[in-house]
Amino acid sequence: MTTEPAGTGLTRQSAAGGSAVEGSGPARQSAAPASAPGRSAVVCTGLTYRFGDQVAVDNVDMRIHQGETFGLLGPNGAGKTTTIRMITTLLKPAEGRVTVFGTDTVGQPMRVRRMIGYVPQLLSADASLTGRENVELFARLFDIPRAGRKERVAEALSAMGLTEPAARLVKTYSGGMVRRLELAQALVSAPRLLILDEPTVGLDPIARSDVWEHISRLRERAGMTVLMTTHHMEEADLYCDRVSLMHHGTVRATDTPENLKALLGPDASLDEVFRHYTGGTLDEDTAKGGIRDVRRARRTARRLG
Ligand SMILES: Nc1ncnc2c1ncn2[C@@H]1O[C@H](COP(=O)(O)OP(=O)(O)O)[C@@H](O)[C@H]1O
Ligand SMILES: [Mg+2]
Repeated sequence: MTTEPAGTGLTRQSAAGGSAVEGSGPARQSAAPASAPGRSAVVCTGLTYRFGDQVAVDNVDMRIHQGETFGLLGPNGAGKTTTIRMITTLLKPAEGRVTVFGTDTVGQPMRVRRMIGYVPQLLSADASLTGRENVELFARLFDIPRAGRKERVAEALSAMGLTEPAARLVKTYSGGMVRRLELAQALVSAPRLLILDEPTVGLDPIARSDVWEHISRLRERAGMTVLMTTHHMEEADLYCDRVSLMHHGTVRATDTPENLKALLGPDASLDEVFRHYTGGTLDEDTAKGGIRDVRRARRTARRLG
């Protein structure tokens, strides 16, 4: 028997009939070999996507460990959402591949979808329904068996601190409450990987930290892997175990916020690190992360900031 929450096992079983086709396309060099698929939640290898002639995601290698909170950071247009859409199977990579808990997103997209919860950038809750009705809708969409459904909905609402207002119409909710409701919707399927695209965009600082407190608590309890994007460097610094800095479709640096800051100096902020890797004065060699260049560029970042 599985030790996973009721319902999750069932939805995953129904994916087991999928073909065992392993990723398509030509063999590629394995800069990030999938040597320990059991320990990686997500492995992107040579991931590339183009909109017409424009390369939105350019040969990205990225590995997200199970149980960590991983931040994908970068300015507008960096390619964060496009990367996430490939991980969630909504876009097919032009080149490269993604595995989620060892399953190829192109070979077995349905199996991957059943393992992830996804909160997209745009608001998705229905304002004319109550909070509980919104989460119930998702529970039905995810095929959570009727027997345990009510409980699962109540758990998801409770995890996001929405038990009390659950019976109210969503149009009476604050922005932060709506965002937490969307998280509850994504959580109702008990995903192993929760993907949040700009989870706190448009929220005031108090609502932002409130949303993060709920995500942190949840992760500690459920051991979930979280992948998020944000523009708020302080949030990434506070809540992410590791981050990737993305610019013009490529990953410029990946490490813990502590290590990235330490490269620039003892009192560097992640904001400075971010500007260093994505600022207009970058040349490509610096972008690849030489330590000497980093120190030099920190002075540039100070001047710019
Ligand atoms: N549907 C689309 N059609 C054409 N270009 C797109 C589309 N979506 C995104 N792009 C372009 O791809 C690049 C990456 O976009 P995106 O992944 O949304 O970046 P981010 O999420 O980091 O802001 C941008 O230059 C953007 O203009
Ligand atoms: Mg985006």
